[in-house]
Amino acid sequence: MSATLTVTTSTATYPVIVAAGALASLPERLAGLGLHGALWIACDGAIASTYGEPLAAALRAAGRTAHLHVVPSGEASKGPEQLWRLYDWMIGGGVERRDAVLALGGGVLGDLAGYAAASVLRGVAIVQVPTTLLAMVDSAVGGKTGINHPLGKNLVGAFHPPHLVLADTATLATLPPRELRAGMAEVIKHGVIRDAGLFVELEALAAERGWDDHREGQPFPGWNAADAALTERLTAIIRRAVAVKVVVVSSDEFERGERITLNYGHTIGHAVEALMGYGPLLHGEAVALGMHAAARIAVAMGLCDASLVARQLRLLTAYGLSVALPPGLDPEAILATTLRDKKVQAGRVRWVLPTAIGSVVVRDDVPEELVRSVIM
Ligand SMILES: NC(=O)c1ccc[n+]([C@@H]2O[C@H](COP(=O)([O-])OP(=O)(O)OC[C@H]3O[C@@H](n4cnc5c(N)ncnc54)[C@H](O)[C@@H]3O)[C@@H](O)[C@H]2O)c1
Ligand SMILES: [Zn+2]
Repeated sequence: MSATLTVTTSTATYPVIVAAGALASLPERLAGLGLHGALWIACDGAIASTYGEPLAAALRAAGRTAHLHVVPSGEASKGPEQLWRLYDWMIGGGVERRDAVLALGGGVLGDLAGYAAASVLRGVAIVQVPTTLLAMVDSAVGGKTGINHPLGKNLVGAFHPPHLVLADTATLATLPPRELRAGMAEVIKHGVIRDAGLFVELEALAAERGWDDHREGQPFPGWNAADAALTERLTAIIRRAVAVKVVVVSSDEFERGERITLNYGHTIGHAVEALMGYGPLLHGEAVALGMHAAARIAVAMGLCDASLVARQLRLLTAYGLSVALPPGLDPEAILATTLRDKKVQAGRVRWVLPTAIGSVVVRDDVPEELVRSVIM
């Protein structure tokens, strides 16, 4: 697979690059895409000195006008206050329509800066430069941007496809292990919903590195950020996971059909996140336990064999993910919360359920009793 994937929708076509060291090629790529205006780098606070300042310096050395603005880390930044600061920075600094915003950070930064780009001057270009595994395989691709509202997450936003997504997997070396594991849940999800080969590749890597050789401070068995061969291997895996998002988004930009398959594991996952309050569980951790529940529902509905649950569980566990429901959560409350999911249509929950590793179906006829039985 080439390092460059391409999203093609009715409204946009853009390259998605996944490679270790890709950041070095950014100045050249921006010029190649015809982005010749000033560059507004919005950067997550945790990585301003490691990646933000060096990127601004490299762009200036290439003769570009580059502004850098640091946004505090954390979900709380995905709101009106930080959005307004981005407007102040850009409008106060004389932003023009031909300029581009570069979103350097995880999903929080990408969603926030993406929405700022979608709305300032009625829209300037956005280049997504994801630095978390979750942002690489999920949020940076697809054009969904937005901020949270006190009544719920991601309730204010816009579709604003990027001109370019550039994922430099070398930036994952500094990502906290827990964030890396949580992102791995989405990688595994992409294998289950659409790419059995990706799933097998993850199994092979786990087998080579010792299925359960978990060590303190390591995101998963055998991880070593300094091991170039392993970085290449993981980069290939990440690219394959990104390719799933690229294909799904290309076929269903506005979430009218197939894009819902990306929601595998999210029905229970979102409910658990909402009930616990965002924070104690990372999103990917909630998705992992949601995938386990969904797979068990699929077995009970006769859609797949019990061995799928076992195989998925083994892989999730190998990558350091737990499928146990956090203690103290009321199953009835989980059930009630799934009914408030954004993906509910005409009062029926639309479940994404596996039929085999690599394929899923969408069903809206899962009996409540069955859901109850897997979360009790
Ligand atoms: N737009 C979409 O389609 C879409 C899809 C999925 C999720 N999301 C959104 O994405 C957000 C979650 O994204 P996330 O998981 O990337 O979280 P995040 O952006 O909060 O990043 C996680 C943590 O990693 C730190 N960080 C980022 N890159 C780093 C690096 N290279 N080295 C060290 N630390 C680094 C950040 O400071 C933060 O503390 C949520 O708000 C969610 O709603 C959006
Ligand atoms: Zn997700």
